[in-house]
Amino acid sequence: MEVVILDEPRQLAHVAADAVAAQLAGTPDATLGLATGSSPLAVYDELAARCSRGELSFAAARGFTLDEYVGLPADHPERYRTVIDRDFVSRVDFAPGAVAGPDGLARDIPAACAAYERSISEAGGVDLQILGIGSDGHIAFNEPGSSFASRTRIKTLTRQTRVDNARFFGDDVDAVPTHCLTQGLGTIMEARHLVLLATGQKKAEAVHQLVEGAVSALWPGTILQHHPHVTVLLDPAAASRLQ
Ligand code: F6R
Repeated sequence: MEVVILDEPRQLAHVAADAVAAQLAGTPDATLGLATGSSPLAVYDELAARCSRGELSFAAARGFTLDEYVGLPADHPERYRTVIDRDFVSRVDFAPGAVAGPDGLARDIPAACAAYERSISEAGGVDLQILGIGSDGHIAFNEPGSSFASRTRIKTLTRQTRVDNARFFGDDVDAVPTHCLTQGLGTIMEARHLVLLATGQKKAEAVHQLVEGAVSALWPGTILQHHPHVTVLLDPAAASRLQ
């Protein structure tokens, strides 16, 4: 695990964008794993800027998002499919239909999750996965206690995650869905390069556990210690509990 601590969120975004650019330079038809949430926003801004300057292209690439709320209407602004389109996909040159996400409105959820797993593996797996981490240590929406072998499935969000995400729902925790579909830890561990971003004091304990804690399902991010190629990008506040 490579841990990089940089003062400015913009510097972190540059390092992450450089990793994506290097991936696309070597493999223009790369498969990218896309996180939502605040952590990757500056990365998406940087990638959109480079794309508009003609420095890189997603035209041959594919993308898979990590997770989705269950039951949010198709036109809800916080549906992750809508969020990733708004924050990133619509700002670069992905081909139509090149980015997929789990279907949080599926009638048959187990079948939709199995189909999502199949589409990732039919695409050849994820080359580079962008990740954030929850303050409770979740990766995607694999909350504490998630199996390290898990695949895409429905999960219950913890109270902590719903409180953390209430900022996207008018600070109303009751408006945050209770369930989600999420790639499993087993799914994420198959991506060939994991690039995780964390900023701010609120992430310090989760980052400490991720990097220095004992591997435990109680801190799901700790499974990344077993991955051969992980880049962890931190600001000083998120790194403040590291030894
Ligand atoms: C979102 C996701 C989550 C977030 C995590 C951190 O697709 O997978 O694991 O990365 O909740 O969220 P932010 O970045 O908003 O602090």
